[in-house]
Amino acid sequence: MAKEKKLFYCRECGNETAKWQGKCPGCGGWNTLVEAPMVKTAAGKAKAAASAADAEPARMKDIAIEAENRLVTGIAEMDRVLGGGIVAGSLVLVGGDPGIGKSTLLLQMCKNLSDQGKKALYVSGEESLKQIKLRGDRIGEFSDSIYLLSETGISLIDGAIQKLQPEIVVIDSIQTMYDENVDAAPGSMSQVREITGILLRIAKSRGISIFIVGHVTKEGNVAGPRMLEHMVDTVLYFEGDAAAAYRILRGVKNRFGSTNEIGVFEMKGKGLVEVPNPSEYMIQGRPVGEAGSVVTCAIEGSRSFMIEVQALVCHTYFNMPRRTAAGTDYNRVNLLIAVLEKRLGMRLSDSDAYVNVAGGMRITEPAIDLAIIAALISSQSEKVMDDRTVLFGEVGLVGEVRAVPQCEKRVAEAMKTGYRTCILPYANKIAIKKSGNIDLSEINLVGIRNIREIANRREWS
Ligand code: TYD
Ligand code: MG
Repeated sequence: MAKEKKLFYCRECGNETAKWQGKCPGCGGWNTLVEAPMVKTAAGKAKAAASAADAEPARMKDIAIEAENRLVTGIAEMDRVLGGGIVAGSLVLVGGDPGIGKSTLLLQMCKNLSDQGKKALYVSGEESLKQIKLRGDRIGEFSDSIYLLSETGISLIDGAIQKLQPEIVVIDSIQTMYDENVDAAPGSMSQVREITGILLRIAKSRGISIFIVGHVTKEGNVAGPRMLEHMVDTVLYFEGDAAAAYRILRGVKNRFGSTNEIGVFEMKGKGLVEVPNPSEYMIQGRPVGEAGSVVTCAIEGSRSFMIEVQALVCHTYFNMPRRTAAGTDYNRVNLLIAVLEKRLGMRLSDSDAYVNVAGGMRITEPAIDLAIIAALISSQSEKVMDDRTVLFGEVGLVGEVRAVPQCEKRVAEAMKTGYRTCILPYANKIAIKKSGNIDLSEINLVGIRNIREIANRREWS
């Protein structure tokens, strides 16, 4: 006889407990535990005992691997984030805020693949066929091998996939799909888990690559259980400022490649356009000859790009001066302000200070510290940094300027974008000189050890 035992699952993190609790012991979320019965069947037990005897471990070195079969989408920014194309039979989750362009990106991907003669199926539970066609018409002319389906029942979709035998399937969005066998609303934990399980089976057993669109919660996670992220092979986030036109595709999990990559796109009238050179894009329209604006070189994954850092220091009318940080870490900015007060004797306690990484990009690597410091000094003293000078470096609590990784790449990017002077950590300058990979007649490297040295540089006017 089946023995019934109660179990509780956390909707957010998938943590299991035997007792109901108000607070999940796994993730600390309140009111997230829901009941799910656990049934152990006699047949299951017998099967488990039989297969336990059969399991045969294999030697690692004896395992043969064939070359991965990857579908190249032709969207270079996307291929790179995926680790060199779509792996056959992989399940990819694409998360992002509403309206950011997930559907557009995936439709463009399907179009590119279908133009190469691959069969693609785009399933939408959110839009009618007409709506998808309207969007498609903005993107361009479609070939014969792309199919659309407006459906939310997973068994019907499964049937359609079996009939059509596509190489690539897009499920737009997991939150609208439902399984008739599960008694829960679409988007609920049990539905999402069940459907992802079915899609996983389809992908692995038939070698079809499936892209799942997932909505994002207020906290920025893909809505539904965290479990979803564990089940899929690759998780990509599509992000960007709704107000700015550019979008960033970021890998957060990838079983077939590195997660450090980003892809940069711009939303235009005819869909998403790749931005192969983000530097020019990020610093276009930068004010020249204004105090409070400096340029730094940041690195995301394997991409380096120039970015403008702005600061505004002005008299405060509050008891507690205001501090804000847009596009970077708030606590880090506070810390750098404290370093400036203590080490350079700059008086900021009676000033508001606003720091902004322009372009809407979020940069949290410490290499941006020196630029934040310079922008604050610039705004406070109304001195302007020479517009062909770039700076980067990590700043410590003593005001020391510490070396940062990939300094050569940053300097090379600065040279390429037309900068002639680079203020950088002294240790990095020595390393670049030693390696000899950079043509030093093209760029003037100024190595500094302490932030005191930038306050008196001649690059200010
Ligand atoms: P969409 O792909 O529907 O976003 P998501 O699926 O992530 O919710 O695209 C959203 C926005 O993009 C929409 O507000 C309109 C805009 N857009 C353009 O600016 N140009 C275009 O060519 C297309 C297709 C969309
Ligand atoms: Mg959409």
